[in-house]
Amino acid sequence: MATDTLSPPPVGADPAITLVDVVKDFGGVRGGAAVRGVNLTIAEGEFFSLLGPSGCGKTTTLRMIAGFEEPSGGQILLHGRNMVGVPANKRDINMVFQSYALFPHLSVADNVAFGLRRRRVPKSEIRDRVDRILRTVELAEKADHRPRQLSGGQQQRVALARALVNRPRALLLDEPLGALDLKLRQSMQLELKRIQREVGITFIYVTHDQAEALTMSDRIAVMNGGLIEQVASPQEVYERPATAFVAGFIGTSNLISGRLTTAGPEGGVIDLGDGQRITVPPSAAPTAGSGVQLTVRPEKITLTTGPAGDASRVRGTVSEVVYLGTSTSYTVATSTGAEMTVFQPNDGTASAVPARGDTVWLSWATAHSYPLGSTPAAPAASGAAGRAVPDSGSLTPR
Ligand SMILES: Nc1ncnc2c1ncn2[C@@H]1O[C@H](COP(=O)(O)OP(=O)(O)OP(=O)(O)O)[C@@H](O)[C@H]1O
Ligand SMILES: [Mg+2]
Repeated sequence: MATDTLSPPPVGADPAITLVDVVKDFGGVRGGAAVRGVNLTIAEGEFFSLLGPSGCGKTTTLRMIAGFEEPSGGQILLHGRNMVGVPANKRDINMVFQSYALFPHLSVADNVAFGLRRRRVPKSEIRDRVDRILRTVELAEKADHRPRQLSGGQQQRVALARALVNRPRALLLDEPLGALDLKLRQSMQLELKRIQREVGITFIYVTHDQAEALTMSDRIAVMNGGLIEQVASPQEVYERPATAFVAGFIGTSNLISGRLTTAGPEGGVIDLGDGQRITVPPSAAPTAGSGVQLTVRPEKITLTTGPAGDASRVRGTVSEVVYLGTSTSYTVATSTGAEMTVFQPNDGTASAVPARGDTVWLSWATAHSYPLGSTPAAPAASGAAGRAVPDSGSLTPR
């Protein structure tokens, strides 16, 4: 299941952080470890996100990298050095938390200078470094303010400046925007990305918000139940999800499983009868009778009133129409009994604008039937006509 966990970082970059078979078992009664064998290679200067649902082990992984938690097994290397037994304050790494805990009685500048003063950095150097980092986070004019005089986003930028002023080689951020409202969070996402580019250090960013991970990351590791399911660029995890879990967790996805009626070098077909069929790219069409699992993104599907020429086409009845501004979301009960979700852009190009209860045809190009992996070929005994039918519940939107 864990596909592609060792996908290499971008070419030419030194690995900043390497995790080899990292396990963390808190010894809970349920027995399952929080992190069950994570392998990762993160490049210097990369914006890398750990994305996954609550409890999947993101924070635990981050805390092990930071040195707040010792792994139960495996190795963590920072710039090639094994970190086992190296305390957090010797790791050249800083962490920014969701609750940024600024000192309320200190000014913005003093909050940022705090760590440098403790390390007895010369006064003039402290002034220079604080000035520069406050300019980077665009808070130079707030240097003398107290934290309570700042907005949530500004406070978060102070927390960021406080970590960056130490010039760590990597910064670990655990849901740092979680406390902000949606609008502010979105503008801070772009800010964070700009700041990361400007300072050029490695960011490992933890979030359970897929839109946030897609917006900011060079690469994303999608975690589930203490394991990594896929490591890839935002576009790849969206367009080419490795597993059904990734397909369902990132955006909306229609899952299709069925058995191939025919298969050949040009690809395969699941014939649903009545002129309905699902076409499958050659990579996912081993032999007739094979079980396949596919994902189709809602925006790749076109709605028409009659059968369209596109490779895959399925008939259904519209059961729900939701206007979303830039697009409209249609839920369609297909003739196989399962529901599919379709997004049509509201740009005036739609060839059909159906209402609830209308019969429609869904069609999409073969390339958009993206394979999630195949199951072993079925025994030949399934039906005299040899017509493969999809497994029950075969079209499942997620
Ligand atoms: N100190 C601890 N002692 C025992 N179990 C723990 C400890 N910390 C975390 N866990 C367990 O390990 C699992 C992973 O927790 P973790 O905090 O890493 O999840 P997460 O992915 O960060 O989730 P969230 O998105 O909710 O923050 C959970 O089942 C959690 O209950
Ligand atoms: Mg967490």
